[in-house]
Amino acid sequence: MRTIPSGLDHKEAELFRQLDPSQLPKHVAIIMDGNGRWAKRRHLPRIAGHRKGVEAVRLVVETASRIGLPALTLYAFSAENFTRRPATEIHFLMKLLHRYLKNELPLMQRNNIRLSFIGRSQMLPQEVQERMAWAKEQTSRNTGMVLTLALNYGSRSEIVDAFQSMFHAAANNGGLGHFQIDEETVARHLYTHNLPELDMIIRTSGEMRLSNFLLWQAAYAEIYVTKTLWPDFSGIDLLEAIQEFQKRERRYGGLNEPIGSGAN
Ligand code: FPP
Repeated sequence: MRTIPSGLDHKEAELFRQLDPSQLPKHVAIIMDGNGRWAKRRHLPRIAGHRKGVEAVRLVVETASRIGLPALTLYAFSAENFTRRPATEIHFLMKLLHRYLKNELPLMQRNNIRLSFIGRSQMLPQEVQERMAWAKEQTSRNTGMVLTLALNYGSRSEIVDAFQSMFHAAANNGGLGHFQIDEETVARHLYTHNLPELDMIIRTSGEMRLSNFLLWQAAYAEIYVTKTLWPDFSGIDLLEAIQEFQKRERRYGGLNEPIGSGAN
């Protein structure tokens, strides 16, 4: 008899029962898109979409943690969002994040979730940076799912930062001539160095783009695009995406390896 994690609702439990528990992804990342369109369809201001988007974050984080996903990474604000959105919207998003980090702490603690961040956070408002450091510290002893929020994140800048970090490491270790660079070295200098290999990227609201998100890490990830707008996305949608993941055949450039065969 399969054990169904507690806390799942009826439909989630039904979907979970159909999954192969030995083949769950270890790391799922989500491009949360469509808040603006969700609001527009309801003749509401864009910020109403973002507000509802936070509720979707809550549902998905809790379900992901309940089913035992080791790592979930959410693309909350891209570096491009910061430079290309109106100041009023950025201001609202920062307030929302500031509040989110405090309000959601009990949920993180209840679910044993460890919070982490990727992106150039030094460019975020001071009070947001302080709240991030606080929330990270408060959850640092948790041992369950690692929830990583990508904030002011861009994959190309992450790769640039990794090059700079490798350059410094080389300078401190006898110079470039003595420094071995291979794929593992690069991976060790990325923001995601502590996370498992990325297995799946989910993108909501139908766009077929990676939008500068985890480009290096996505090398062998399965990509799942749904037309559902982010505010409508729920734990059920996450489980459906995982169901689809388990149907895919991951070959890693080789021949017909069944999923989860150990290659990565
Ligand atoms: C994309 O929708 C969403 C964002 C740019 C922000 C994502 C933010 C949230 C989901 C809420 C805040 C999250 C946390 C963790 C506090 P869009 O505005 O690009 O939608 P559109 O493409 O339909 O205009």
